[in-house]
Amino acid sequence: MEKIILDCDPGHDDAIAILLAAGNPSVDLLGITTVAGNQTIENVTRNALSVCTAYGIQVPVARGAAGPLVGPQALAAEIHGESGLDGPVLPSASFELDDRHAVDFIIDTVMAHEPHTVTLVPVGPFTNIALAIRKAPYIVDRVKSVVVMGGSLTRGNITPAAEFNVYADPEAAEIVFRAGWDVTMVGLDLTHQALARPELQDRVRAVGGPISEFVLDIWAWVGTAMDDVLQIEAPAVHDACCVAALIDPSVFTVAKADVRVEITGRWTRGMTVANFESASGMKHFGGTATEQVDYRTNVALELDWPKFAGLIVDALERLTSA
Ligand code: BDR
Ligand code: CA
Repeated sequence: MEKIILDCDPGHDDAIAILLAAGNPSVDLLGITTVAGNQTIENVTRNALSVCTAYGIQVPVARGAAGPLVGPQALAAEIHGESGLDGPVLPSASFELDDRHAVDFIIDTVMAHEPHTVTLVPVGPFTNIALAIRKAPYIVDRVKSVVVMGGSLTRGNITPAAEFNVYADPEAAEIVFRAGWDVTMVGLDLTHQALARPELQDRVRAVGGPISEFVLDIWAWVGTAMDDVLQIEAPAVHDACCVAALIDPSVFTVAKADVRVEITGRWTRGMTVANFESASGMKHFGGTATEQVDYRTNVALELDWPKFAGLIVDALERLTSA
């Protein structure tokens, strides 16, 4: 069983990550923490509670940071709407939030489990994770791994250079990438392969029932938004890719790189700069021998789409028949 804390900003693809984590028997979802990103902290927290209420997902939900560490707040209403989860109709939440702040929930949960057994899965801006490192640096040696949705090797989706989760809090992302733990970067290069193509939508339709309708409503909304804003042919199911990799690491290939985040660039703030062990020969960053390279980030490269699609369908079938 993979014990995970899903740190998210639901968010359409975040909601599918929640369903995949709750619906797969090899994932032990220890809790959901929320962070301002796609929408305000109020909206994304309400959405997390509503998704859990609607589909009987009984895990603690803890509310987290209301904004980034340093810069101005960026929201993604163009893609996720004013509520953060426009499109599907969800019930009001019928249970209470955990009474801890997300940062304390993360620290407590990591420390309450055996060393190297809990994986953090940040799929919104990395603010909560960076704050947890600052508050309790000892968690870095305690967690098993960190699998983040964020970054890009090529194009961005909020600026030409930057992916949204990293752009929304670049300082936090730099802290998380360079903390010294085992980290996997699931960026746009990978998640733009994770498309809800018609074939997947047909398989989800065949599952039937309210969960399948919910997922199809998500893709109907976000498909139009993504096509308008980003010209992607089908909705990218970004955040679920991180959960999929914890269920089956062969769902994508990885290569080792030293990943840094551009903090100061005029046009490139929030850009991820990856120095690949296999490809670059750059022995140090920044042209100075004092900045030694540390090829510790596993950068996701090639998705096995049929495997990914199969995991989504399987989780929805299990949740529907539970
Ligand atoms: C990321 O940004 C959000 O809009 C999505 O939920 C995903 O986590 C993709 O850039
Ligand atoms: Ca997200």
